[in-house]
Amino acid sequence: MKSQYSAPRLYEIAFDMNRKAEVEFLVHCFRRYARRRVSRVLDIACGTGPHLIRLADRGFRMSGLDLSRENIEFLCRRLAAKGQAGELVVGDMTDFRLRHPVDAAICMQDSQGHLLTNAQLLAHLRAVARAVKRGGLYIFDRYMASSWTNPARSWSWSRRRGGLIVRASFSALNDVNPVTQVFRERMLLEAIENGTRRVYRQSHLSRMVFPQELRAMIDLAGGFEFVEWFFGFKPHQILERSKHPLIMVVVLRKK
Ligand SMILES: C[S@@+](CC[C@H](N)C(=O)[O-])C[C@H]1O[C@@H](n2cnc3c(N)ncnc32)[C@H](O)[C@@H]1O
Repeated sequence: MKSQYSAPRLYEIAFDMNRKAEVEFLVHCFRRYARRRVSRVLDIACGTGPHLIRLADRGFRMSGLDLSRENIEFLCRRLAAKGQAGELVVGDMTDFRLRHPVDAAICMQDSQGHLLTNAQLLAHLRAVARAVKRGGLYIFDRYMASSWTNPARSWSWSRRRGGLIVRASFSALNDVNPVTQVFRERMLLEAIENGTRRVYRQSHLSRMVFPQELRAMIDLAGGFEFVEWFFGFKPHQILERSKHPLIMVVVLRKK
């Protein structure tokens, strides 16, 4: 069946890594930092829904937004197969409005990297601030400039699900522009099943921001107060305690 080999399915298998621990941490943050009960959550750039599905399993009422219609349709089918529902929307994270405001928003796997200019990042923060209720949270992760040289720029791994093997290669930091902080990411997914091989290639631009630059943008956007940031998905991993953080996980609260 062709849909079995579609790119969202391959992506979902290849990148099903630390998702369980990430969701655990998100739920911890909802309880620890929100000034309201978190029940309704928006997953921004939800992709194939690794976090959205797990949060729905835990009883949160989920909304999802992604620019890719293919991803949203894939996720609709995943939710329906589990007898669950969610408000899933094809849309742009720099300019969206929800039917129902949420108690928390998340944006995972450095999806904000798709925002290639300060203007886009500002528009995004303002759009999220409109969608989150007062006292609610916005939590997202970003790669850090300290990961520009270490670890290496490309990774390869493989995963098996049933009779399907997915081999993935991912490379970041190609053609880094030191002024715009924009670079190219390349991904290759190879699916092998029943002796058939299919290859899916994707390439897109991404941008890194520096922590203090991000803080300034958050202040400039208005709407959110900074709460805390982490270098991983554990409560004790406060960003300042790491000498070589590869990611920052940022928690903001709606004013
Ligand atoms: C790295 S994937 C992450 C997906 C998911 N959050 C995860 O953790 O697996 C980035 C996602 O951002 C989406 N995306 C890119 N630009 C976007 C935009 N302007 N608005 C909304 N989604 C966007 C892509 O379609 C893709 O699904």
